[in-house]
Parts: sequence; C-alpha cells; structure tokens
Amino acid sequence: MTAAPSTTYQNILTSIENGVFILTINRPDKLNALNKNTVQEIGHAIEHAIHTPEAKAIILTGAGTKSFVAGADIAEFNGLTPLEGSQLAQAGQDVFRKIEISPKPVIAAVNGFALGGGCELAMACHLRVASTNARFGQPEVNLGLIAGYGGTQRLTQLIGKARSMEMHLTADVITADQALQFGLVNYVVPIEGLVPKCLEIIEKIKSKAPLAISSAIASINAYYDLGPKGFATEIEEFGKCFATNDLKEGTAAFLEKRKANFTGH
Ligand code: COA
Repeated sequence: MTAAPSTTYQNILTSIENGVFILTINRPDKLNALNKNTVQEIGHAIEHAIHTPEAKAIILTGAGTKSFVAGADIAEFNGLTPLEGSQLAQAGQDVFRKIEISPKPVIAAVNGFALGGGCELAMACHLRVASTNARFGQPEVNLGLIAGYGGTQRLTQLIGKARSMEMHLTADVITADQALQFGLVNYVVPIEGLVPKCLEIIEKIKSKAPLAISSAIASINAYYDLGPKGFATEIEEFGKCFATNDLKEGTAAFLEKRKANFTGH
C-alpha cells in the first residue's frame, strides 16, 4: 500500500493499493462527523484520485467499526446566519457533486452510522456496500434543520418519494437490511467482508473499458440532471465510444474469441 503523495490531511487518510484509491474519513472520536475542513479534504482527495492515472476506482469509508459518518459536525452549526447556512450547504453539495460526477467509479463502504451528511455522502457515491451494523437516516429535523448536502434530492431519487418523505419527516433510522430492501444500498455484508466486497465489485469494473465506464456514469447521471433529455446524453456518450481504441479492441476481442485488453484510450 502506498500513501497518496503530495498532501498531508488532518481528518482523512488516503492510500492507493492495486489501482484502488481508498479514502478513509478519520475522526473516530467524533464518529467521523464532517466538519468544514473534512469536507474540503474529501473534495481535494477526490480531485487528486480522479487525476491520478494509477487510481482506477475509489472506495470511501470511515475509520473504525462504529460509524461511516454520523453527519455534518453539529458543533459548527451554532450561530450561523441564514447566508452562512446556505454557504455551508453549497460547499458540501459542491464536493458531493464532484463525487457523483467522478469519471472513475466511487463505492461507499458504509461501516456503521450513515446519518445526515453521512447518508448524503454515501448517496453521492455510485454504489453502496453496507456492513450489517450500518444504520441510515436523515435525522436533521431533530435539530430544527433539513438535509443540506443533497439528501432531499438523492434519497428521493434512490428510494422514491414516499419513503424519502418518511425518513426526512420522522428522522427514523433504518437498518442495513431495510436499506437493502429500499434499494438504498447494493449489498449488505459482515463488517470484515466490507472492503473485500467493494474490491470484488471493483475488480469486475476494472476489467472493462475505462472510458466506457465513465460514459455510463455520465449517461446515468444525466437521467437525474436532465430528465428525458438524458437520452440525448446517452446518444452523445455512445458516439464518443467510437473514438476509442478500447471499442476497437473490445469488438475485435469478441470476434476473435479472446479476452479484451483495454488500455483506457
Ligand atoms: N456532529 C458532531 N459531533 C458528533 C456528531 C455530529 N454529527 N455525531 C456524533 N458526534 C460526537 C458526539 O458529540 C460525541 O463527542 P464527545 O465524545 O466529544 O461528546 C462523539 O461523537 C460520540 O458520539 P455519542 O453521541 O456519544 O455516541 P453514541 O453511540 O451515544 O450515539 C449517534 C451515536 C450517532 C446516535 C449520536 O452520536 C448522534 O445522534 N449523532 C448525531 C447524528 C445526527 O443528527 N446527524 C445529522 C447531523 S446534521
């Protein structure tokens, strides 16, 4: 394992192993709550991973076995003006959007509480694998607040209006199995199997053409950004694939009955 170069972070850990960039939020004494600095560091590290050729995929997780992220740091809310509140939400949304539109796949390994900003962070990732002890919720109304890092939008996209309304309005916290049943997570595994399951998924993705993977992410995101106009994005991304060597290689390999050797060009 090699530490990602060039930056020393206060609240996150980063490493690259076998082409996988692992970003670990590291404030376990605060259940990995997201203060402003942590959000900034996540944004920086994601940017770094996107621009590091060696990194083919990203896993985002929390330190320890109790919490992925227990929300935005409530201690930083005190005394904010409405404008400062909006600016806080904007800064968080900008970073989470960076994750959502990453051309490299990002998987959340949800290792415990994913509450408020933690649930929102997991939802900004492309896939979610949860440990059996994971818990999901948008409990902001307990604080006289609502979700601000995209939670009202992405939870509704992922699990539908009725369930999203219920979670946001009641602040109910759901189990990993309920999250699986709702379609909020892709898999639930014992905590020791969490990273291995993410790596298993990544191994499959890594064997495919990287530019096609990026095009698939962009096209699927377009559904949520553009509605029916997302079809036009799919047409555009489909066309772009024909400019790649990987498409030539993939189709040739199929016809020659051999395994494709994709280079990402
Ligand atoms: N912001 C700031 N600090 C937080 C935090 C948050 N979102 N979540 C937990 N912490 C801190 C606690 O204040 C405590 O710090 P302390 O030891 O200095 O007092 C530490 O993390 C451990 O949390 P604690 O509440 O003692 O753990 P617990 O096991 O009893 O409860 C939770 C766990 C997750 C149920 C509880 O911490 C909680 O409800 N957190 C807030 C969840 C939330 O509302 N998130 C949305 C925020 S917008």
